[in-house]
Amino acid sequence: MTTTEESPTASGSGSNATANFQATRTYRAGQRTADPERVSAVVSAVLDGINRAVLDHEVTYDEFQAVKQWLIEVGEGGEWPLFLDVFVEHSVEEVAARSQDGTKGSILGPYYLPGQARLDTPASLPQRPDERGTPLVFSGRVEGTDGAPLPGAELDIWQADEQGYYSGFAPHLPDGNLRGVVVTDDHGCFEIHTIEPAPYQIPTDGPTGKMIEAAGWHPWRPAHLHLLVSAPGHRTITTQLYFRGGQWIDSDVARATKPELILDPSDTGDGTRSVEYHFVLEQG
Ligand code: DHB
Ligand code: FE
Repeated sequence: MTTTEESPTASGSGSNATANFQATRTYRAGQRTADPERVSAVVSAVLDGINRAVLDHEVTYDEFQAVKQWLIEVGEGGEWPLFLDVFVEHSVEEVAARSQDGTKGSILGPYYLPGQARLDTPASLPQRPDERGTPLVFSGRVEGTDGAPLPGAELDIWQADEQGYYSGFAPHLPDGNLRGVVVTDDHGCFEIHTIEPAPYQIPTDGPTGKMIEAAGWHPWRPAHLHLLVSAPGHRTITTQLYFRGGQWIDSDVARATKPELILDPSDTGDGTRSVEYHFVLEQG
């Protein structure tokens, strides 16, 4: 596939996501020895669910072999992070949220890249000179659950462009595009100049996309900003912010929206949109 400005592409985004996953600390954290009782309980529940589906839906040998072939293709295409983050991470996040206070969390997804440019507020996210999209000014404050402002807090932000592509996972985009770590000022405040992202579509040319198509589902996530918000002595929040009235808000393929995470930007009169959001971090 060619990768010109006229025909942008997410080609390779699945395998890039796998390479990125294996290079991060999240992967190594999973290498500790697990409690055999817990392994048995969870693995039994997964296998019970699969066997139940086979019996209830009278899965045939043809279908069984087709599933094996599809599983092989997901692995060969490097799409496991993409598949699991879309269809499973929301439940893992729901469990984590049970013991979390402050701003609601949402899924991390497969496209986080650490080590982006650190930017003082007010900040403009790195973008192409001709970056398309409605300009967005996103501002607000980071505070503790006691309401105290958190100066020096970090908002590690990443988003898709106006066509729904993420830098680092779409070959036509420059590294670091629409990514940055913005630091709050002495009052815990931030101001970020960016563009409104477009909805994101699961790549349709890989096995995950083929499964979605075969099932007659849609492959869309609503437009969103990703954030990791952190401050010394506080628990980091992994979250996403959405846009009121945005397409797919009520039918996110990744089931990762929450009513508390929906922004409602207003027009400023010069073609820019602006919105505020306050993040609350718990101690610990
Ligand atoms: C996926 C992509 C995203 O942008 C996201 O936020 C969550 C999941 C995915 O393709 O798996
Ligand atoms: Fe995303």
